[in-house]
Amino acid sequence: MERTHPEDFTDQERIEVRPSGPLEGSVVISGAKNSVLKLMAACLLTEGTFTIRNVPDIEDVKVMGDVLRHIGVSVHRADNALVIQRPALITGEVPYALTEQLRASTAVLGSLLAGIGNARVALPGGDDFGHRPIDIHVAALEAIGCRLKISGGDIYATVDNLVGNPVLLEYPSVGATENLMMAATRATGTTVIDNAAREPEIADLAVFLNQMGAKVSGAGTSTICVEGVGELHPADHTVVADRIEAATYLAAVGVAGGEVTLEGARGDHLAIFCRKLEEMGVRTAKAANGIMATAMNRLQAADVSTLPYPGLPTDTKPLLVAILSVADGVSIVTENLFSGRFRYVDELLRMGADIRTEGHHAVVRGVKRLSGAPVRAHDIRAGAAMVLAGMAAEGLTTVLDVHHIDRGYENLVGKLGSLGADVQRLGVLDVC
Ligand code: EPU
Repeated sequence: MERTHPEDFTDQERIEVRPSGPLEGSVVISGAKNSVLKLMAACLLTEGTFTIRNVPDIEDVKVMGDVLRHIGVSVHRADNALVIQRPALITGEVPYALTEQLRASTAVLGSLLAGIGNARVALPGGDDFGHRPIDIHVAALEAIGCRLKISGGDIYATVDNLVGNPVLLEYPSVGATENLMMAATRATGTTVIDNAAREPEIADLAVFLNQMGAKVSGAGTSTICVEGVGELHPADHTVVADRIEAATYLAAVGVAGGEVTLEGARGDHLAIFCRKLEEMGVRTAKAANGIMATAMNRLQAADVSTLPYPGLPTDTKPLLVAILSVADGVSIVTENLFSGRFRYVDELLRMGADIRTEGHHAVVRGVKRLSGAPVRAHDIRAGAAMVLAGMAAEGLTTVLDVHHIDRGYENLVGKLGSLGADVQRLGVLDVC
């Protein structure tokens, strides 16, 4: 059977989206995926029972749970908390079968080195964003006394004595900053990380590490100081709100119009994103416990350029491109972090968008309306962007490969549906 219509995909897990809006009501923002994954890794630093609260119910957290279990740690979910018991004896091995499912599993490198002095972690390989090397992680860990080599697809890392040192990162890599912070907690002396990444998830990790008895200061700025300590102990911590999930619901208001409150969202973590939305015509304001967003008219084109935090997050770019594809005017979008992060544009083209890409730029000419089509989610954020695009399209949009969305969004369909969007999650039918 030739598959050309959204209705032809009833044998696949999918999200069906119909024209939606205006949206109305409030939505609770979950804990940040990109924080909790690193907090879980930090539990390898020392023996004992940890509690992490406000943990989103998403696939990436489940896979990270499997990574910890493989290492010998027990992980249980109790409501929205994770209880993690790290015994005295653990292994330092993470196989490819796990790392290929979750790039962030490399976050265990730093904590394993500080916790047991060795790690053998399979390299995760590339992904839909293009080339994703780990050279900055390696250089950072070597700068405090670790030895790393890559052989047979695995990273072998060992250390006898972690030694605090000044470390200048070549680029403010989120993952490298976190690995180095975790490893440096147990070093002799002080590690000063210069050109550190400044993301709120890094500040959240520092709060967790300090609750464990570490001495980390400056997280959230480009200079982080980690004074090594002899001992750490378990901690109980509540995860910071997910700024990218919040951005997704703000973008949904941009696409579909309406008035929505995002409970628990942190406006200060989304300052430039909100400013960009304002430029397009979405009003955002501080609410009692979050952010309120209002959009009543067709939005205006705006130029967009991604940068490390506090710049415009690369993770919000597919959402903004979905908005701009139906905004009034021409926008230039520039991706400065991940070379391959424009794959979803082909899906928007299938929906009638007018977008031209050239290297790391895209020129988006807004059309009046998209037209519903079967489209694929190429990654977590691109998947969410397809759902938003479907809300601004005539007819039925069927989003396929929804497992990507499940990796990073807790109940995207339920939350959008509670705001009045016409979205449905459908399972496998017609399987003979
Ligand atoms: N880079 C290197 N060498 C390295 C590390 C990074 O060249 O050793 C380059 C990367 O190739 C990329 C840039 O530096 O071009 C940024 O990478 P970074 O290390 O900062 O990102 P990451 O830690 O791999 C995290 C988030 C991503 C988010 C980026 C940027 C997690 C689990 N992932 O990735 O989130 O896009 O920071 O903000 O924290 C997502 O949530 O969907 C997601 C992809």
